[in-house]
Amino acid sequence: MDLADTAARLGVPVEEVERVHRLAGDRPSAPLPDRADAPAILDRLAVRPDDAAEIMAGWPGPDSPRWTPELRWLLDRSVALVRADLGGHGWLPPGPALPRERGPAWRHLYVYAYLALVDVVRGYHRDHGIADDVSWTTLADLGRNLAVDRRMRGEGWPVMQSWLTLHARGGVYELGRLQHQRGDTIGLHIPESGPMTPAAVDASLDAARAFFPRHFPDERHTEFSCGSWLLDPQLREYLPAGSNIIRFQRRFTLEPYQEPDGIDADVEVLRFVFRTLSTPPDRLPRDTALRRAVLDHWAAGRHWRWRVGRFPI
Ligand SMILES: CC(C)(COP(=O)(O)OP(=O)(O)OC[C@H]1O[C@@H](n2cnc3c(N)ncnc32)[C@H](O)[C@@H]1OP(=O)(O)O)[C@@H](O)C(=O)NCCC(=O)NCCS
Repeated sequence: MDLADTAARLGVPVEEVERVHRLAGDRPSAPLPDRADAPAILDRLAVRPDDAAEIMAGWPGPDSPRWTPELRWLLDRSVALVRADLGGHGWLPPGPALPRERGPAWRHLYVYAYLALVDVVRGYHRDHGIADDVSWTTLADLGRNLAVDRRMRGEGWPVMQSWLTLHARGGVYELGRLQHQRGDTIGLHIPESGPMTPAAVDASLDAARAFFPRHFPDERHTEFSCGSWLLDPQLREYLPAGSNIIRFQRRFTLEPYQEPDGIDADVEVLRFVFRTLSTPPDRLPRDTALRRAVLDHWAAGRHWRWRVGRFPI
């Protein structure tokens, strides 16, 4: 196979195709579910009707002309790449960011990869005795991410496609309000699902305290951790002490600030507070206390910081 030619046809850098080729090798892939079963699966994965319709329209049937050989290769090898790291919990891009405007196959290639991996990761969950409801709730982050990406006009997807490989490898679990990522510590993530009240956070932490020793008895966790714009103490200059974000911050001991590798906190704030990466600041809304805080901070020539914190389990 000519990797340079494949990369050119996919419209992506050749190094990215070489990476997929190297990591996936000739390892086993996994088949997609039957097309007839797909609507019910998409429903369980909380995929909204507009996204589900697009996914069904672009379905990689054996005769579909829009599925060129290089797209089929990437889908197959991307599944193999993620599957090869089943049980892993590090950051793992499933392949190159594609020019998604070229059509539904391009737009949703990594969604089809995720669908192929549902059975694989469900087997992993079963092997660890994880209940069906935790399994499906965790995997249903797909629908939430697709809906956010639609609001973001596609700007969210390049990160989401990598984030979702954690779910597909058994690396992250949604337990109540928070998502918990296996690792040296239990890494906390906060999905967009309404306010994060202290009571909901407490309940989620308690659920994790029971969940991990029970389902991963060989792993020993002593701390929860979080890396986020939400932990930036500068937010205390703007938000009331009783706000959920400030109350969440108080749980953590912060690590000394270090410029993070590859993360620009101002961009992450745009992503999570305004759900856009490209709207100029003067056109962003000032309709909540946090949005006003963010914009005033920038207007004063200041920047947000990505902070990492921990607390004992
Ligand atoms: C984390 C999150 C749930 C906190 O929301 P919350 O519980 O409402 O937080 P607070 O009580 O501290 O909110 C204080 C104020 O900021 C506003 N606010 C909080 N998060 C906001 C957000 N993401 N976008 C816009 N406004 C927000 C609230 O509406 C409130 O303003 P108001 O008093 O004018 O209504 C919310 O920011 C969110 O859903 N974020 C997206 C996911 C995310 O950021 N995850 C972390 C990724 S690193």
